[in-house]
Amino acid sequence: MGLFTLLLVAFLGSAEGSSLRYSDGQSSRLSLEKTFGRSVKDSQCQHMLKHLHNGARITVQMPPNVEGHWVSTSCEVRPGPEFLTRSYSFFSNNTFQAHQFYYEDNHCTKPTYTLVIRGRLRLRQASWIIRGGTEAEYHLHRVQMVCHTASVAKELSQRFNRSCRGAVKGPWEPNVIYELWGEEGSFDCSRELNFAMHELQLLRVEKQYLHHNLDHLVEELFLGDIHTEPSQRLYYKPSSYQMALQNAKNHDHGCIACRIIYRSDEFHPPILPPRADLTVGLYGQWVSQRCEVRPEVLFLTRHFIFHDNNHTWEGHYYHYTDPVCKHPTFTIYARGRYSRGLHSTRVMGGTEFVFKVNHMRVTPMDLATTSLLNVFNGNECGIQGSWQVGVEQDVTVTNGCIALGIRLPHTEYELFRMEQDAHGRYLLYNGQRPSDGSSPDRPDKRATSYQMPLVQCSASSQASDHSRADDGDMRLLHRNDCTGCHRGGEKLVTVALVAFVTSLLLS
Ligand SMILES: *[C@@H]1O[C@H](CO)[C@@H](O)[C@H](O)[C@H]1NC(C)=O
Ligand SMILES: *[C@@H]1O[C@H](CO)[C@@H](O)[C@H](O)[C@H]1NC(C)=O
Ligand SMILES: *[C@@H]1O[C@H](CO)[C@@H](O)[C@H](O)[C@H]1NC(C)=O
Repeated sequence: MGLFTLLLVAFLGSAEGSSLRYSDGQSSRLSLEKTFGRSVKDSQCQHMLKHLHNGARITVQMPPNVEGHWVSTSCEVRPGPEFLTRSYSFFSNNTFQAHQFYYEDNHCTKPTYTLVIRGRLRLRQASWIIRGGTEAEYHLHRVQMVCHTASVAKELSQRFNRSCRGAVKGPWEPNVIYELWGEEGSFDCSRELNFAMHELQLLRVEKQYLHHNLDHLVEELFLGDIHTEPSQRLYYKPSSYQMALQNAKNHDHGCIACRIIYRSDEFHPPILPPRADLTVGLYGQWVSQRCEVRPEVLFLTRHFIFHDNNHTWEGHYYHYTDPVCKHPTFTIYARGRYSRGLHSTRVMGGTEFVFKVNHMRVTPMDLATTSLLNVFNGNECGIQGSWQVGVEQDVTVTNGCIALGIRLPHTEYELFRMEQDAHGRYLLYNGQRPSDGSSPDRPDKRATSYQMPLVQCSASSQASDHSRADDGDMRLLHRNDCTGCHRGGEKLVTVALVAFVTSLLLS
């Protein structure tokens, strides 16, 4: 690890002071489209990834205007697990009122209790950790709670009576509002719930015209992520995002949950339409729906191919320096076997899987990553000193790539769930990666919440040869297209690779 640290310092040093200014870069969109136009074998999956790659349809507001009323688009799962929906209002005088509605079940049909949180929010500078995000500070005024059933009221009041003297003056009733924390109060019961609003420390607002229709604007608010270990929540500063909230005025018209949540309050919690759990069928091809953020400066898109006939899988991971996934740093191709386990007893609606990776190829896509890979000595990542920009190397023989923190063979304990979105498309959720940067390589480290979902782009697992041919095109494309590259940013991100990419597989 000594060498890594040295390198880290060296690269950080040279990146210091260089510009990390954020740009959504519309400049080279035309050239991108032209190049992609040449691709003959244009599968639906490649088409969907390309739309993300050029980031054409999304604009990002910097600094973000968060004023308004924002709601969840579906039943959300937090580590624990906790099932909840959110309804947050931000006012022009910089105060906010947030409702968090908690449930017993994974479809959010049985409300247990609601938290009402009031406070003040102040936006700070653009984030140095997560490009494209804005940092903020919040200050709480008051946290209150309403229980929705007699048994929940009894159970919670007993818990608070033990852990937080002074709060419980008598047995609690359902549908009555109680104080958990107040500026003048002498008690703080929010700790009993590991409650924190640190998600307000990182914000991003995106605007998007759906279906190229100028009348159909959708505004999304991304707030900071929640630590996967509930007891760490109070101390964790967000380094990626949760599922986006949508603006109640400008939401996807297909979002029924949005309307139900918008109309709710602490005495009338949203009850989402009941649904059956879909059986997780791992077959066909799946791609990212957006440029995804990994904790600590990694942006990526994913493309998975599952062969259910022989239980093998292939994954393409495209990594970038920027939040619209335009400037590539490196690509990983991995494959291996998987096996299906049982329904999760811990996470309602989840199904357990075990994934093995036994084959991997790496393609550096920029100079910084290429030089980093070339610096590593010995048989630790492909053939020493042989890396070239845009040229793929098989690293299976060197048991993975130490420079990227990946050792083969590798096993991960996974959690999956499937859903259909408002437009009938299948969505595949896999487990959130541990916030401490480790990998779920033991059954007890299996996730209890999920990452952003992938969308099915083909029901068939064939055409994976096509996707490889298309990779070639992309490589060429990215090499020729460096308009507005941010050198400093690239270096910083490469450093982050060494430091944080301890396990990318299935990330
Ligand atoms: C801020 O505005 C909201 C909504 O208009 C209002 O309810 C609240 O009392 C105001 N707070 C302060 C401190 O002015
Ligand atoms: C709270 O705890 C005290 C002492 O253990 C007990 O006497 C009291 O009945 C409890 N109150 C409630 C509402 O559970
Ligand atoms: C599994 O099946 C797929 C598709 O039928 C095929 O392309 C792949 O080579 C097979 N893998 C193994 C290890 O047999």
